Amino acid sequence: MAMSESAATAVEISNPRGLAITSNFDVRPADNVDGYKSFVVGEFTFRRDSYFCHITWPGGRHQLAIDVFLRALMRDVAWGFFYGTVNFDTVFGTTNYYGEVEVFAGATNDAYTSAGRDFIQRFKSDELMKSFREMISDWTNEGYDPFAAPMETGAPWGAKNGENDTAVTRQRVTAKRMVSLPGDTPIRSDEDGFTVNRMFQDVPQDEPEVHVEPGFEHEVSAFNLYAYLSRSDVTWNPSVCSVVKDSLFCPTTEEFILPVEHGNDRCEWFIQLSDEIIWDVKDGSTGKPRAVVTMRSGDVSCMPADIRHQGYSNKRSMLLVWENGSPKIPDLIRAGKAPVVPVSW
Ligand code: PHB
Ligand code: FE
Repeated sequence: MAMSESAATAVEISNPRGLAITSNFDVRPADNVDGYKSFVVGEFTFRRDSYFCHITWPGGRHQLAIDVFLRALMRDVAWGFFYGTVNFDTVFGTTNYYGEVEVFAGATNDAYTSAGRDFIQRFKSDELMKSFREMISDWTNEGYDPFAAPMETGAPWGAKNGENDTAVTRQRVTAKRMVSLPGDTPIRSDEDGFTVNRMFQDVPQDEPEVHVEPGFEHEVSAFNLYAYLSRSDVTWNPSVCSVVKDSLFCPTTEEFILPVEHGNDRCEWFIQLSDEIIWDVKDGSTGKPRAVVTMRSGDVSCMPADIRHQGYSNKRSMLLVWENGSPKIPDLIRAGKAPVVPVSW
């Protein structure tokens, strides 16, 4: 989504921890065991081998399975660090301040914070993004697509073997007004290489007939959102399909597991458009479990602003994520001036 660029210019960048910017980045040459480069990001180091990503920082180390790490890194890169916190797992992640980003180990994990073992550094978004892009490019092998459902791609394991830059540099859809309007993001078709996914073969492909009053051709349009989503080639990647001021409709198709535990910095609404997703909902700051929510087709929920959540979808499903893109909200919530839930009774 396009939130980082617009938000950075609209309001002052907030820095609730008062951290200075760190600017040292380095790329170390490929090792002679598995053939991957290592990356220095401030005082963090990132190394990949056949099965794992190894992260170190002063006083700590952590490892994640490389498929988990690459799927999460892919989302962080493609989403421009997203809204709020992207937890790669229960230890490592990033928090977006829209222009600057904090990279942390243990900062959203009660055991780390209560023992004083969490470690956080702050970077300029564009500098961190450059390093993360280089990492995903070097660490993704030929035949592996971190955006794809596991049954639709090859394996990430093993020594370095080619690359898949076509997949890891995909441009996400960000409609200016709405998909299908003249000059905006087009609808998807076989001709453009967007074929109907194996799990959405039953989705009707007819498009609405729109008869526009002359002179309103640039204002009036309609498209079949189900057909559009049935042709998505990626999973867990909300794309902006319609925009009305700060109201962003970001539908997405979901199969397997949301690769991150997303820590919200604002409320967001979910409308389950088809099939089923189970959501694990935990406290945003500590990781303590708060709820398990099963959403079936037609269900609507709102995720509060103080939680993190991760979804599970066995059959590929369609989800509409509805975001309020206003850059003012996170500070209002931090100051206690906006509620963490959309309604109270
Ligand atoms: C979310 O964090 O709300 C989110 C992210 C990616 C998805 C769905 C929901 O695919
Ligand atoms: Fe979320």
